[in-house]
Amino acid sequence: MSHESASPRQSAAEKYLPARGKRVALCVTGSVAAYKAALLARLLVRAGAEVQVVQSRSSREFVGPATFAGITGRPPLCELFDADTGGELHVELAAESDAVVVMPATADCLARLATGRADDLVTATVLCATGQVIVAPAMHPSMWSHPATQRNVRQLTEDGRVTWVGPVSGEVASGDFGEGRMAEPEAVYGAIIRQLSLDAWQGRRLLISAGPTVEDVDPVRFISNRSTGKMGFALAERAAARGAEVTLVAGPTELPTPFDVTRVDVRSALEMQAALSEAAGPALSGTDALIMCAAVGDYRLEQAHATKLTRGGEGLTLELKENPDIIRALASERGGKRPVLVAFAVETEETELVLRARRKLERKGVDLVVANLARDSFGREHNVAVLVSEASHTALPELPKPAVADHVLDWVLARLVGSAVA
Ligand SMILES: Cc1cc2nc3c(=O)[nH]c(=O)nc-3n(C[C@H](O)[C@H](O)[C@H](O)COP(=O)(O)O)c2cc1C
Repeated sequence: MSHESASPRQSAAEKYLPARGKRVALCVTGSVAAYKAALLARLLVRAGAEVQVVQSRSSREFVGPATFAGITGRPPLCELFDADTGGELHVELAAESDAVVVMPATADCLARLATGRADDLVTATVLCATGQVIVAPAMHPSMWSHPATQRNVRQLTEDGRVTWVGPVSGEVASGDFGEGRMAEPEAVYGAIIRQLSLDAWQGRRLLISAGPTVEDVDPVRFISNRSTGKMGFALAERAAARGAEVTLVAGPTELPTPFDVTRVDVRSALEMQAALSEAAGPALSGTDALIMCAAVGDYRLEQAHATKLTRGGEGLTLELKENPDIIRALASERGGKRPVLVAFAVETEETELVLRARRKLERKGVDLVVANLARDSFGREHNVAVLVSEASHTALPELPKPAVADHVLDWVLARLVGSAVA
């Protein structure tokens, strides 16, 4: 038996950096949405990328170079003719970058790109790029819907060198509503990570459950638990960002659907079981891995009361029936070693956490149990988890939930590709 313990100083970023060593040229043009490019730069830097910001002249009216320099550690480039850098900067930039991104892309920038112009460093760099360029337009709906802009978009689409992210419908800077609002930085980030095809999650199907389940007592009351869904949603978001095809079966929660994730909303344990069975397919053939992160209620009423229960002055006794053990039932359908099965175990006592997790692993017939304490997990942005497999366990330090998700996904991926994980 091996016992590995991650150092308390180890962050998930050290463990898994989806853009480690990759170079991204982030071209920023003159829109109010330019400030969001700073957020994208930050996401990319955190993911391990070397980010070189290229600013159009007008973008500097919106965000100063110091902001980008502070985030990326490199001063943004702006001028096509730059005595300091010399050479053909646009050619070098395009050749050295693993991804070229334009965010935000103005109507004017799209017009120049559509006609193949190269009159500033942004357009010249894009024209030199040999791969797909990720473009996130941002403009007032009247500019976006204008026939000239639409013609440019069609032309660029036809040329086949642009991956569009957005725009979306919503409120724009002026307070008006319509299509033209830039996609959020997380969406652009997801497109970049996918384009970089950074790991073997590409094309793998992952089924994740998240959140609480709710059992109705009567039309106004229910039995539930303290799960918020944050851990399961973090798993879904991280897996989708790494290129997996993710289906998320979620109990009631206010959390927004992560980008590029197929979400199925359910309420009760029985609904969750039905949704997972359907998504997993016959003999679980429809998924490569299943991560059961939802806090499924163990009990329900045989039949919810059709009308509100009223006070009787004598207290109330509810007879509860046990819910099915969803992961155990699904695991029993598995023929061989696929899909990889992961269960979460929440405990309130620290003693024998690993031992109890391993018993659960055997009882349920899964490959990994992620054990955590309710006080470290429920409703929190961070978590302290122990990954318990048949042969070993790894105690992670306190980490943000997306970082815990990365560790779990790394373990699952290693199983999927057949490399040795105990
Ligand atoms: C306050 C302000 C906001 C602007 N916002 C946008 C915008 O969101 N989208 C857009 O296409 N143009 C916008 N423009 C117009 C562009 O900045 C202008 O067309 C500029 O020439 C674009 O140059 P660039 O693409 O090289 O950055 C805005 C202009 C101003 C003054």
